[in-house]
Amino acid sequence: MKKNIVFAILVSAGAFLIQHHVPMVQAEEMGPVHSITLPTIPAELKEGAGKDKVMTLCGICHSPDYIPMQPRLPAKTWDSEVHKMIKVFGAPISDEDAKTISSYLAAQYGTDEK
Ligand code: HEC
Repeated sequence: MKKNIVFAILVSAGAFLIQHHVPMVQAEEMGPVHSITLPTIPAELKEGAGKDKVMTLCGICHSPDYIPMQPRLPAKTWDSEVHKMIKVFGAPISDEDAKTISSYLAAQYGTDEK
């Protein structure tokens, strides 16, 4: 008789642990939602006229970091780079915006060459 009572206590204690303790631990370690830490992308461009357009339009497909990653380039090269983005890759940039962007790039990331 005593044995049965002890057994009943152990069983309910075990059931309690399985129901309450184990799932809680699993929820912490194996829940469907995990938090991730995104890498910080330094996408700061130099201040200058047209910066906003460059940040938005040149950041559609890739980080605007592609710009400061380049060596200083002559204005002509920046201009053809902008047109390559439009013609080859289909960047949705108007002629007017392309001009603003090319001038910004030449002024901030250009050489003295024209
Ligand atoms: C429609 C998508 C798109 C837009 C918008 C875009 N690019 Fe690109 N860009 C690309 C692709 C595709 C590459 C080449 C593949 C890669 O390296 O990711 C690239 C590469 C570059 C490179 C690296 C050198 C090269 O020629 O491969 C530079 C610099 C660059 N882009 C500048 C710009 C600038 C400045 C603008 C804004 C005028 C711009 N991009 C807008 C798609 C785009």
